[in-house]
Amino acid sequence: MDKIRLTRREAIAAGAAALLIAPRGAKAAPEPVTLTAAVVPRTLPGNVGPSDLWLYNDTIAPVLRTRRNEVFTAVFRNRLAEHSAIHWHGVRVPHDMDGVPYITQPPVKPGESFTYKFAPPDPGTFFFHPHCNTVEALGRGLAGVLIVEDPREQGLFDIEHVLVLKDWRSRHDGSFEEFLTDAGATRSGTFGDLRTVNGEAQPVLRVQPGARVRLRIVNVDPTRIPMLSLRGVERSMVIATDGNACDPFALNGWRLGPAQRADVAFIAPEKEGAEIVLEDVFSTRPRPLAKLVTAGQGLRSTRAVLRLPAAELPQPDLKTATMLDVQLLAGSADPKLLAWAREMGVSPDEICLTQKAFWSINRQVWPGMGHEKLPPPLYELKAGRSYVMEMFNGTPHQHPMHMHGHTFRVLSSSNRDLPAHWADTVLVRPKERIRIAFVAGETGDWMFHCHIIEHQETGMMGYLRVS
Ligand code: C2O
Ligand code: CU
Repeated sequence: MDKIRLTRREAIAAGAAALLIAPRGAKAAPEPVTLTAAVVPRTLPGNVGPSDLWLYNDTIAPVLRTRRNEVFTAVFRNRLAEHSAIHWHGVRVPHDMDGVPYITQPPVKPGESFTYKFAPPDPGTFFFHPHCNTVEALGRGLAGVLIVEDPREQGLFDIEHVLVLKDWRSRHDGSFEEFLTDAGATRSGTFGDLRTVNGEAQPVLRVQPGARVRLRIVNVDPTRIPMLSLRGVERSMVIATDGNACDPFALNGWRLGPAQRADVAFIAPEKEGAEIVLEDVFSTRPRPLAKLVTAGQGLRSTRAVLRLPAAELPQPDLKTATMLDVQLLAGSADPKLLAWAREMGVSPDEICLTQKAFWSINRQVWPGMGHEKLPPPLYELKAGRSYVMEMFNGTPHQHPMHMHGHTFRVLSSSNRDLPAHWADTVLVRPKERIRIAFVAGETGDWMFHCHIIEHQETGMMGYLRVS
């Protein structure tokens, strides 16, 4: 069996040798995959000139596949002009594999390599990206998808498609506009207006008539929060949130913030040539993002409920859990922290630094993204203990809050019905209180931040220390 493989389309897109494919029938550990980050000039849809994209393996959002509990090895080669690393977003990796420069590993300098090796404990749809100068790196396309397969899911679906949502801040001539603007960073972020799925404007994909279809939708955009709907099918259900199986709920305008994933299942119409459209229904005029068209041999699916085997994650004990309060607020540079930064000699122009204090968590402003020297943790946790965290959003903007190294249970919202689900990133709306619960994992410092990257890079980041 192949351990790491690509669909044919992806293999072609990736270029023959860009990704190693384990030989068929190999029993030994799967071949390591190589991920080379480099500047790649490429003309984006609708533009007349090439853009300097930053890509892994010359591919817009390459898709890697591995299996649950099997060792996955990725050799990261940095051919960029600045340091980088790979964060495996949502994967419960060992601390030293979490890919945060200065905190979990040294930065990978230009020309250097770093080998990531871990056995992902949970199946699902995950995302990887750098964790430094992220606003530009992600803005230029440096991101990929890691799919962790589970043998228990074999045969549940006839076909699956990975849909990676990303907008670009490119001008017609291909040059990029500023990735971080004060106007955007102080509000809901700076949006790109060239919207793509898998690097294409409104791609058309095929599904067999009557097929049981699984869409793995990944939002790798640094800013936009689409509200997703599928037109042209009777029922479309979210079957996994951030990769984790959930009790299926209707897609119906589900908001997918930056870094969030939704696996969506439906049965394709039985007639040929039927169109199913993935739309963003955020504004009154729905925006088509991608189209699926039925074609080929019809399948007779049983009308069984489409769902995944239940997630197997550490269950927090709500009766003994310790409460943690998290306030998401505008940033006013805390004089204590400023004094601390001065003392530590954090300078504004090192890479990773933006030195703007627009946002805060518990009134702490992340000191300008300087990862080199750490401010105090937001909370100190005990490994194996259960916690309930209540996040309050006291700002007029939404914040998709992400915790590294942990998959948490989203328990409730103070002002809307929210299906209970597992996540690594949860959207907290203005004036809302969201409760999550989790078991503190491996010891170490785990980042906790907003995934609207301009918010993250202008203060809305901190970390939890597990000991
Ligand atoms: Cu995808 Cu620290 O994040
Ligand atoms: Cu935010």
